[in-house]
Amino acid sequence: MSSQNIYILAIESSCDDTAAAVMHNGKILSNIVASQKIHEEYGGVVPELASRAHQQNIVPVVDQALKKAGITKADLSAIAFTRGPGLMGSLLVGTSFAKSLAFGLNIPLIDVNHMQAHILAHYIEEDDFVKPPFPFLAMTISGGHTQIVKVSDYFNMEVIGETIDDAVGEAYDKSGKILGLGYPAGPEIDRRAQLGNAKAFPFPKPKVDGLNFSFSGLKTAILYFIQKQTKNNPNFINEHLDDICASIQYTIIGILIDKLKLASKQTAIKHIAIGGGVSANSGIRAALKSGEQKFGWTTYIPKFEYTTDNAAMIAIVGYLKFLEGNYADQSVMASARLKI
Ligand code: KG4
Ligand code: ZN
Repeated sequence: MSSQNIYILAIESSCDDTAAAVMHNGKILSNIVASQKIHEEYGGVVPELASRAHQQNIVPVVDQALKKAGITKADLSAIAFTRGPGLMGSLLVGTSFAKSLAFGLNIPLIDVNHMQAHILAHYIEEDDFVKPPFPFLAMTISGGHTQIVKVSDYFNMEVIGETIDDAVGEAYDKSGKILGLGYPAGPEIDRRAQLGNAKAFPFPKPKVDGLNFSFSGLKTAILYFIQKQTKNNPNFINEHLDDICASIQYTIIGILIDKLKLASKQTAIKHIAIGGGVSANSGIRAALKSGEQKFGWTTYIPKFEYTTDNAAMIAIVGYLKFLEGNYADQSVMASARLKI
């Protein structure tokens, strides 16, 4: 197969990023993302606005991806697209575009599960990145997802734990809203956390059995705590912002690591990979590194641009499915709640 020239164009539009990438035999030639700034003023993604922005962005983003890769539509071997999960209106834009383009070019169409893609992003060919060996545990942490997945092979994955309410990125963003920070608040909380005292304000950890997560109780605890403190001292947030952020981060990372430890113990798997926007977090990175020493883990963090929502991760899944001849047909539909 490797003597063949396989070019995959991949399209991702599941949430608020319109993204396109071109892959050649497993290597990324271009990886373009148009992030939608419009949601910042609303403090969260507004689905209707996201769909409209995808409509505006999709043609220029795909054009740019092809140009940057130095190829034309005629060179493409297949079109891969995110089928789900995600926001229906957003998914429909990428799905319809991909179907039409594949039909027009008369080349295979390949549907991709966004959650599988976050995990398989680790298999993009990159010179200095080591690919996790099977089986491994993948923890996907972002504004939309929080899952622990046992990955036995490329397409043999089992979700063994997931959030029963908010995603971990949402916990960051909603905490930030309470503190009056901008959206998304994760990076700012992370930056301040590194300047503050993590033990300043203890927050309770949720009691959720097994490998599932819950973050909505933490958000409520933070809200009540801040309401109480600002009643006594209206300047409380300003005076203690770094310590508050450090305490929130300490609690959240503690929750994630507790579950990873349990998952590793239950499955006897010590290869641990992460993905999703929250894997940029300094706290989770430090905790994983110390897990290498403490628990004998080997940990894998993909290149940052393959971690947040992007089309390169859709391309690698498209490539792997192309090699298997696993194509979709024109009747394929977007699926907001698609499961792994
Ligand atoms: O993967 P992503 O770009 O989009 C999806 O949600 O799918 O993740 C965005 C999320 C946001 O909730 C943002 O606050 C969070 O990732 N985030 C972080 C950090 N960087 C981004 N959370 C904590 N620490 C960070 N450094
Ligand atoms: Zn995602």
